[in-house]
Amino acid sequence: MSKLTHLEGLEVLDSRGNPTVQVTATLASGARASARIPSGASTGMNEAVELRDKDPKRFLGKGVRKAVGHVNKDILNAVKGFDANDQARLDEELKSLDGTANKGRIGANAILGVSLAVARAMANEKQVPLYRHLTDADSYTLPVPMVNVLNGGEHADNNVDIQEFMLVPAGFKTFSEALRAVTETFHALKAILSKKGYSTAVGDEGGFAPRLKSNKEPMQLLVRAIEKAGYKPGKQIWIAIDAASSEFYEKGEYVFSQSDGSRKSSAQMRKMWASWAQSYPLISVEDAFSEEDHAGWQKATPKLGDKMQLVGDDLFVTNPAIFKQGIAEGLANSILIKLNQIGTLTETLECIEIAKTNKYTYIISHRSGETSDTTIADLAVATASGQIKTGSTCRGERIAKYNRLLEIEAELGDKAVYAGRSAFKRWL
Ligand code: PGA
Ligand code: ZN
Repeated sequence: MSKLTHLEGLEVLDSRGNPTVQVTATLASGARASARIPSGASTGMNEAVELRDKDPKRFLGKGVRKAVGHVNKDILNAVKGFDANDQARLDEELKSLDGTANKGRIGANAILGVSLAVARAMANEKQVPLYRHLTDADSYTLPVPMVNVLNGGEHADNNVDIQEFMLVPAGFKTFSEALRAVTETFHALKAILSKKGYSTAVGDEGGFAPRLKSNKEPMQLLVRAIEKAGYKPGKQIWIAIDAASSEFYEKGEYVFSQSDGSRKSSAQMRKMWASWAQSYPLISVEDAFSEEDHAGWQKATPKLGDKMQLVGDDLFVTNPAIFKQGIAEGLANSILIKLNQIGTLTETLECIEIAKTNKYTYIISHRSGETSDTTIADLAVATASGQIKTGSTCRGERIAKYNRLLEIEAELGDKAVYAGRSAFKRWL
């Protein structure tokens, strides 16, 4: 047995300068490790609760001293002496200690901090990398990155309603070649934007966020950038979108208030996605419809689902019960996996199992507020997700995950298989 002997919470900062929770777990063997928790901006209604102090005198109310206090007291008292190798039992105890459906009492930030710090400490005790601790497999898949290079919506102060336009380098043999290609494309895009007199300042996830002429202009710019970098759109690099449309769904309509103020029904949205997929190498759309628009999702899934990956983020919030219900209703064909939407490693892995059983693809994802924690890189490899969404090839907290994947690729040598097109085999 690998006894958990100590937990230490600490209020640290994330990439947006907001406080977040760090937890360090120590085992009887002396093995120890820390985890730092990310934070979203365009959050789903049903996400687990990130506990914040709401004390206006500190960090504009965003302090996390209460969550940290829970780690250091209630949680430590409850799980001290637990077997760090029994993640499921630990996570079950954390859930029942909280006792609410949304982890709002102790805070999903405190709970996930403990869940992940213990997993990392256990990997250290076994002297294996985290991805090996998380799976028994002996062949490993490196994920295709979805690289967010142009931003709008809640992640930018510009006139684009759609939140993310991403490069998807599925047509390469190795992860490192694919990463190089999208990095070069990022630089080519910067040159194109500069030449047009557009801003090249970057947003929260490292993508550019210029004022543009329309919601569609990013699609044209991405295709040009791919070509300028010397790659082939639709053969080597595809485009993915995160519309994050729950953010602009008002009273049954999609209101494009950041751009031209126009409104679209679900049916018009569906037609827009279908027409974009005809004109551009669009392979994946996340939150194409609002989390509240189940009817829109239901109609669109059979109509668009053979053309593109339809990803539920706000729609499923990495919640096994909500995900199962959504599958039963026929919504989407893919799920975005964010650990802090649900708050424990075990429930996250449960969602992945549900996805596999139901032939939904699953994408391991960062949040817009991040730290240098690289857990999601290991999780993507361990679960053979085939896809990871972790921002642009710019900003240290995003690069930390890409560099971790490069490290894993090098360490695995011949055993590292790049998912490439196979991650999208239903659509390519
Ligand atoms: P968030 O955005 O982390 O701000 O929620 C990312 C996403 O919507 O996928
Ligand atoms: Zn999203």
